[in-house]
Amino acid sequence: ENEEAQKVLEAHQWLSKLYHHLLKHTKEGKEGLDYLLERGFTEEMIDRFQLGYAPNSKDFVVRFLEKKGYHPQLMVKAGLLSSNDSGEYSDRFRGRVIFPIRNHLGKTVAFGGRAIHDQEPKYLNSPETELFRKGKLLYNFDLARSAIRKQGSIILFEGYIDVIAAYQAGVYNGVGTLGTSITEHQANLIRRYVEEAVICYDGDAPGIEASMKAARLLKGSGCTVKLARLPDGMDPDDYIKSHGADKFRREVLEASDTYLAFIMRHLKKQYNLNLEGDRIAYVERVVKEIAGLDHAIEREHYLKELANEFELSLDTLKEEVSAHRSQNG
Ligand code: UTP
Ligand code: MN
Ligand code: MN
Ligand code: MN
Ligand code: MN
Repeated sequence: ENEEAQKVLEAHQWLSKLYHHLLKHTKEGKEGLDYLLERGFTEEMIDRFQLGYAPNSKDFVVRFLEKKGYHPQLMVKAGLLSSNDSGEYSDRFRGRVIFPIRNHLGKTVAFGGRAIHDQEPKYLNSPETELFRKGKLLYNFDLARSAIRKQGSIILFEGYIDVIAAYQAGVYNGVGTLGTSITEHQANLIRRYVEEAVICYDGDAPGIEASMKAARLLKGSGCTVKLARLPDGMDPDDYIKSHGADKFRREVLEASDTYLAFIMRHLKKQYNLNLEGDRIAYVERVVKEIAGLDHAIEREHYLKELANEFELSLDTLKEEVSAHRSQNG
């Protein structure tokens, strides 16, 4: 049992080295290297994050792991190989750029693979295994930990690409959830290390949805939450590539919104505030969100803002909030 886990960790380490070597020093891996360089990643980042290339072969990794003495059945269980009904083994990752996924101790426990051409799916990760639980791991936490402590803040990205792009831009306290949103487990883990969390998910509809979900979970765990401001449809990596590192830090991270400001900004796009009906619906929706805030000072702040903007009396809005709060106990 424990011995198996050890073997699986070792196999990941070997494979991570192999993929990295193939990317950097082989003719076949060159298309992976070119892909990463074209996307703007530096050699330094490629080395630091041990990025690699999985060859487009049915059994290159099968043979490699066999030669190293690992039982193929165990490697299937580890998520490194696939097997079919007739008991044939094959490489799981083929013709992809590889991102080793490390746990909080810095041990590689899974891989992520990004397609280079337009094969589907665009991203293929290792399956869940005993050593790799997606909802428990935060990508890059091992490298980011000291920066998180020092800065008293953690930044959440959607995935490895954005984390590495941010790292290259000098933002060292970033971690990634693999997919879109975080889990309650991850939120509690974060709160044990740090109070402030900045959510920097993609500026598209799923990213905004996931941001609100993550914000609620993190607030529930006792974190102070901020939400970064990305232009419509852009993700952190896109932004850094087109506007540069300084602008990313100043105008996206440092200009991040509070939870309520973020909600207001996004709700505004869904209503036509020139119409009376929409205006009322918007105000009601925002009041409901304000009622959910923990601190009276914060509630008062946003109520005043709302009262001013819509020429409403503060007392009326306060009454509304009280009604919501007594309803929700
Ligand atoms: P996105 O879906 O936003 O990727 O996933 P993208 O920005 O369009 O991808 P590029 O820029 O074209 O390469 C964001 C991150 O979520 C993780 C990956 O780490 C990815 O970088 N992800 C996404 C997964 O792990 N699995 C998935 O199925 C999808
Ligand atoms: Mn996408
Ligand atoms: Mn996305
Ligand atoms: Mn994205
Ligand atoms: Mn992207």
